Amino acid sequence: MYKSGSATRRCFMSGLAATFGISRLSPFGSTTQERRQVQKSADAVRTDLQSEYDKMVKLSSNENPYGPSEAVMKAMTGAWKYANRYGYPEGGITEAIAAHHGVTPDQVLLGSGSAEVLKAADDAFLPGHLKVVGVEPTFEVVYRFATNSRAEAITVPLRDDHTADMNEIVRVTRRNARDVGLIYICNPNNPTGSVVRKDDIKLLLDSVPEDIPVLIDEAYHHFVENPDYESSLKYVLEGRNVIVTRTFSKIAALAGMRLGYGIAPREVIDQMRRVIYGSINAVVKYGGVAALQDTAYQAKIKQLNSQVRERTTAQLKILGYEIIPSDTNFFMVNVRTDVTPVREEFRKRGILVGRKFSPMDTWLRVSVGSDEDMRFFVSALREICPA
Ligand SMILES: Cc1ncc(COP(=O)(O)O)c(C=O)c1O
Repeated sequence: MYKSGSATRRCFMSGLAATFGISRLSPFGSTTQERRQVQKSADAVRTDLQSEYDKMVKLSSNENPYGPSEAVMKAMTGAWKYANRYGYPEGGITEAIAAHHGVTPDQVLLGSGSAEVLKAADDAFLPGHLKVVGVEPTFEVVYRFATNSRAEAITVPLRDDHTADMNEIVRVTRRNARDVGLIYICNPNNPTGSVVRKDDIKLLLDSVPEDIPVLIDEAYHHFVENPDYESSLKYVLEGRNVIVTRTFSKIAALAGMRLGYGIAPREVIDQMRRVIYGSINAVVKYGGVAALQDTAYQAKIKQLNSQVRERTTAQLKILGYEIIPSDTNFFMVNVRTDVTPVREEFRKRGILVGRKFSPMDTWLRVSVGSDEDMRFFVSALREICPA
């Protein structure tokens, strides 16, 4: 590990040497003056990259633009004293999550972000030839994690209204039952922002073979206001073969700190626990406990997000853009041309937006930022892709 890290650093330093015209750079042979100059140049590059990133309007990764709550920051600040420890007290994060959902701690699996729990599900339930079934497009890392090849996923296209076709998911699962190890449903779905209706989740769970686990990714649960939606945690409480994942990256604004979790029946969690590394840092465990308690902050973020999203999408519709109704902190707008070059145009204007989600090649996914972020976005969109 150390070796590859130093190789990367060497490449970076020799890249710098080339960039700044410093010759004969060698970790052993360089003069003090050369080393100082390289250090200065490295600092300059780092500062440039950092300030370039800081200046960008970030609407590409569905982050929370407002940052963690004061209570969360305070809890995390208090936990820095454990930065040098392995065996520190964990702040009761597992117990707090379990109590929050009315399950036992052995039904909770922590991950370094919920993405790590998704990977654990793939590793645990897709041994050998087994496949994952789900819709397309969705949060496809689950398909990528499966084997790093899309061949291991059986995907069902979204319907014309961009919602998931549960009857088709059921049909495909039954037809391939012997080969299916996992069903993945993202609810609400990323990138469309649409919910899977509660009746459809019930239909799915009542219709697929009981021995196939169904993973329901509720990363955007906290933003939903749609009465047709409900969390699938109730099925875990009923003891069904269901895994629900949640994250602190979105509503709690802790994406950079990495904390997510899965909730499932104990035997299901045990299978995933065997394959997960679960290297979660001390600081975020304390932040997570505080975030669960800070319901006022969550309510405020939910309200702000919905206000800004509705204002922005209403404006875009008046301007003549087609929008997919969203229950999340992002939405899709039809730019009527391939998204990839459009994304580049936004980047040139200092705005990061979502990548292309094939087969929805003309639909741009935009995260809901602050009011000001969205004003920048709308004016750039009008310039790049007039309605
Ligand atoms: C649907 C969905 N699930 C999971 C994740 C992973 O989130 P994290 O690993 O930060 O918890 C994301 C991230 O954007 C997501 O959109």
